[in-house]
Amino acid sequence: MAKSIPKDFIDSLIDKANIVDIIGNYIKLEKKGNDYWARCPFHSEKTSSFSVSENKQFFHCFGCGAHGNAIGFVMDHTNKTYPEAIESIANTLGIEIPRDKETSKIYEARKILKDSLNDAKKIFENQLKNSENAISYLKERKISGETAKKFQIGYAEDDFQVINKSLSDAYTESNLLDAGLIVKKDKNSYDKFRDRIMFPIHDQSGNIIAFGGRILKEDKEKPMAKYMNSPETSLFSKKRVLYNLHLAKQDKDSKEFLYIVEGYMDVIKLYQAGIKNSVATLGTAVTQENLIQCFKYTREIICCFDGDKAGEKAAWQGVENIMPVIKDGDAISFVFLPENHDPDNIIEKGGIKLWNECVNKKISIEEFIYIKFSKETDLNTAAGKTQYLQKADALLNKLNAKILKDIIYEFLKEKVGVKYIAENHKQKTIVNNKQYKTTSPLQKAILILLHNPNIKINEDLINDFRIKDNQGIVLLKSILDLIKRNKNMKLGGILENFRDDKQAYLSLEKISRMPITDYDYPDKELNACLCLTIKNFLKSKLKDIDPSNLKEFSTAQQEIREIEEEAKNY
Ligand code: UTP
Ligand code: MN
Repeated sequence: MAKSIPKDFIDSLIDKANIVDIIGNYIKLEKKGNDYWARCPFHSEKTSSFSVSENKQFFHCFGCGAHGNAIGFVMDHTNKTYPEAIESIANTLGIEIPRDKETSKIYEARKILKDSLNDAKKIFENQLKNSENAISYLKERKISGETAKKFQIGYAEDDFQVINKSLSDAYTESNLLDAGLIVKKDKNSYDKFRDRIMFPIHDQSGNIIAFGGRILKEDKEKPMAKYMNSPETSLFSKKRVLYNLHLAKQDKDSKEFLYIVEGYMDVIKLYQAGIKNSVATLGTAVTQENLIQCFKYTREIICCFDGDKAGEKAAWQGVENIMPVIKDGDAISFVFLPENHDPDNIIEKGGIKLWNECVNKKISIEEFIYIKFSKETDLNTAAGKTQYLQKADALLNKLNAKILKDIIYEFLKEKVGVKYIAENHKQKTIVNNKQYKTTSPLQKAILILLHNPNIKINEDLINDFRIKDNQGIVLLKSILDLIKRNKNMKLGGILENFRDDKQAYLSLEKISRMPITDYDYPDKELNACLCLTIKNFLKSKLKDIDPSNLKEFSTAQQEIREIEEEAKNY
């Protein structure tokens, strides 16, 4: 869908929308000097390190490194997808999004899907009202009418044709199949969910995207899945979605921490007991997508599991999954409930008091790692300790958060009294990993251009044949082309134009976060960087020349001297 919103529309939108007004719609900005400032909405802080530059149409937080243009802000702050953010900005400005045929088709198809799920929900809710069995099941599970309403709980009758028939006027068979509401076998279609309590599953914005259905009675004679979910559809992916995130994120406690539990019932019973900041995975271990989503809203996630073997296994699977996406500053902890207990029956047994007692026994991720590895090795022997450290090494190698990695490794070593330091954990300088520094003259050149798009660059240097194949030069040139075509292009707009070119986008995004010096003559500085790039190229070429080939060697040296001379002009 994103691709089918015309590029020039997005450019003109960025051009028309003033980032200060857009961000100002969400948070209070205060003008100081040239820029606008606020306390960063993406991390908690006491002083304002979040800046918005009208000039550059770009925001940047000096505390947590968050940055981007107006679209990026709306996406991150309101958890919208790219097309949704564009739509929201266009709406604010009262601009109509041109939709080509292809876009309209996809848009329509998704709308039909959402509508059909919504209609099905209403049918399920009505059926619940008429089913004594279903009502008494919910009563038995101590779910109040009010709670059932809040979670839009329903009931699918024990009938093959309720949904299929009631929705057949409004939707085609293929609509209902796409929505996962019916299934088809040998040309016959029938309802997917039958005789089940129905839990609608929502996306972050509160749209219904799927259902989970629970059987009322477990029958040993006729074993079947206790819970059944909608199939994966264009709206629903099991590993991406967290049940109840749309409500949990609105709870004030969520800013501090968010519980991740295992079941729908757990979330619902916690909610009913007044604990509204919990979400549930959908029968999977915690995934990378889950973690990334949660940390948009919270400082800490507390993963809650049954204290039995299966619970520990699921928790560990989660740890292995999320390692690569943990960031420095993310707090992750685990609660292992008494064996054969889930949050639902903890609340049943002892209410919030017992729940809090359990939660107070939470352990940090490093403690969990220690417990797991120390169980698997014999720490009384050197070999066992070695194996323990090898396991730690293998796991932490997947962790990209530099500071956290050092700290966990130190912790794991200290736990077993080992002083040995593996090579790849030897002291690294601890820096704010979100603040990169330029590492090459070309990166610096791009950085200067991004911040000074109207700068004059020496065309001869840019087009120098010796560096024409350099990826950075290619990127620099395409930025220059873009600026030539759009005179008003600012940092925010430039970045936006590369969104579809993944590699270029990542590089530019990284460079745009680097600190920039306010040069008196940025053009000279940039030209000097280009000279340096040419010089570096020549120097590496010189290394490959056999010095006994005097002629070639001295020509190359001559070239280096020339470019050094030229650099002095800047
Ligand atoms: P549990 O088996 O722990 O069930 O599954 P539960 O949440 O305690 O459910 P109740 O209390 O018996 O009603 C936890 C989660 O795993 C998924 C569901 O998302 C469920 O909430 N699950 C479980 C399935 O998808 N299919 C199943 O057959 C069982
Ligand atoms: Mn349960």
